[in-house]
Amino acid sequence: MTGRFGRLLVTGGAGFIGSCFVRDILARRDGTRITVLDKLTYAGNQANLASVTQDAEQARRFEFVQGDIADAAVVAPLASAADAIVNFAAESHVDRSILDPEAFLRTGVIGVHVLLAACRREAEAAAAGRRPAAPRLLQVSTDEVYGSVDEGHASEDAPLRPRSPYSAAKAAGELLARSYHVTYGLDVVVTRGSNTFGPFHHPEKLIPLFITNALDDRELPLYGDGLQRRDWLYVGDHAGAVEHVLRNGVAGEVYNVPGNRELPNREVVRLLLEHLGKPWSLVRHVEDRPGHDRRYAMDGSKLAGLGWRNRTPFETGLTQTIDWFRANEPWWRAIRSGDWDAYYERQYASRLAHGVAAATVTRPESGASGAT
Ligand code: NAD
Ligand code: TYD
Repeated sequence: MTGRFGRLLVTGGAGFIGSCFVRDILARRDGTRITVLDKLTYAGNQANLASVTQDAEQARRFEFVQGDIADAAVVAPLASAADAIVNFAAESHVDRSILDPEAFLRTGVIGVHVLLAACRREAEAAAAGRRPAAPRLLQVSTDEVYGSVDEGHASEDAPLRPRSPYSAAKAAGELLARSYHVTYGLDVVVTRGSNTFGPFHHPEKLIPLFITNALDDRELPLYGDGLQRRDWLYVGDHAGAVEHVLRNGVAGEVYNVPGNRELPNREVVRLLLEHLGKPWSLVRHVEDRPGHDRRYAMDGSKLAGLGWRNRTPFETGLTQTIDWFRANEPWWRAIRSGDWDAYYERQYASRLAHGVAAATVTRPESGASGAT
């Protein structure tokens, strides 16, 4: 990736997908230099970047700055030193956005605007000959901006109908980014990724929560009827697609990044329990998430036309993920400590107290055979 994008600023690079992007690029040893700017919220974890900092050659091409993308004084010099900015930074959990929406707006709207304003100054510097070229900004967005897609597959020009504070903040962030392309001519591209899973996934999300609970023989809180559908994307494929769009995407354009396996949640849970050798009796049907989107599904033909292919079949990714969580127990036990208990209590205590053993619920009409 050297050349046009030899110096990258990766914001939110200590999180789940951002750290995969950083690890994968630096491990290629092609000379790319990366600065990570990360606030280290509860979701940020420098341990996710240990493979980089423990390798002398990669560590020489890597810098870590702890800070907030909404802090213009921190962002300005980092933007000035970068050929491109890849913005993964966000509050990323829908359930937390329902409990406490404000942080989602601060990072997802104001933070994105601070990055754009810094890019605008750099573009002016390039126009005045003070730097070789304006930086490219890639805004990492989500399929959740389309809202629930009950039928068919959303293409990039489908209306945005976000239905949670998380997805509304993400929609606002990417719309601001595109407005800076139209108004100021900034080099901006946007990706809309599907539900992502894999190693280093924070255990608040469905797949890692259920793996780690099941390893401890704890109840698995399945929201509502468990027939909500998601299209799962392996983390290495998501990170690879972001890099592909960074290199090849057309300025001002948006690219869907779909997964390759649409499944009802019940079926995901059945598969992971089967891999773990744990019983279905751990599953509890609990009170649903308010405004729960029934289905996400995107059309990936635009990104395929740009030459990107999703490589990891769902079952392969799931096996790799389960193996990783089994082998990295200290990593997830450290996260499931401290503030974790207060969050878990707030999100799940009442739900689990009123939960129903899944075996007593009618079997779904499709996709969950053998689940009871
Ligand atoms: P994550 O929560 O694991 O990581 C987010 C990172 O951003 C953390 O390291 C956190 O410390 C950092 N951060 C948060 N606020 C910040 C701020 N104000 N300044 C600097 N750093 C800050 O999230 P993730 O799952 O890796 O998601 C990364 C991006 O991808 C997000 O923008 C998310 O909306 C998007 N996305 C995620 C998924 C998914 O399934 N996980 C799917 C599509 C899109
Ligand atoms: P999640 O991993 O939070 O991703 P998203 O909300 O971005 O899709 O949830 C994935 C699906 O799993 C979603 O339909 C909600 C459901 N879910 C549960 O049933 N129980 C849980 O405890 C969690 C966290 C999620």
